[in-house]
Amino acid sequence: MSAVAIDILFDEKTIAARIDALAQDVIRLLGREPVLVCVLTGSFVFAADLLRALHRAGASPLMGFIGLSSYGAATHSSGQVKLTLDLLMEVSGRDVLLVDDIFETGRTLHHARELLLARGARDVRLCVLLDKKGKRTSALKPDLAGFECPDRFVVGYGLDLDGQYRALPFVGALRD
Ligand code: IMP
Ligand code: MG
Repeated sequence: MSAVAIDILFDEKTIAARIDALAQDVIRLLGREPVLVCVLTGSFVFAADLLRALHRAGASPLMGFIGLSSYGAATHSSGQVKLTLDLLMEVSGRDVLLVDDIFETGRTLHHARELLLARGARDVRLCVLLDKKGKRTSALKPDLAGFECPDRFVVGYGLDLDGQYRALPFVGALRD
């Protein structure tokens, strides 16, 4: 693998502090027993930290997982959202918080939200770590967002480029 320069945008400490604040916002929005649905794969690191921040804040969250993919091996969205792993959790009648790594065009979360509503969820709210506001194509927007993200391809803290860089403890942008 050739060396790639990465500019750190959000470091470990900054992310941790922001997630503690987000946990308070989740509790304000959904109460002390929130039902989280983590959109795999990119958001598993964020969702795990948010889950524990919720516990520290006195909540008893539940978490389920759904696999959706729109990127394949590229650095731009294919436009097609594919269900790669179905949700096992029952969401009928529940208020659900979809947790994703990044909101770009909004297609992934639009798709996920429609799917959960079709399964009888009462309400579906959206929480993302990063909001790339410049790329939105959907009228939908996140209810909660950790950081505004510049319009660059970012990796780390769960986000990947073709499977690489998920383990980085920070969010960084690939230098072009
Ligand atoms: P959307 O469907 O266009 O909103 O794209 C959201 C999905 O694309 C996210 O769940 C990510 O998996 C992926 N994605 C978007 N931007 C980036 C990026 O900069 N780095 C890595 N993955 C990204
Ligand atoms: Mg994703």
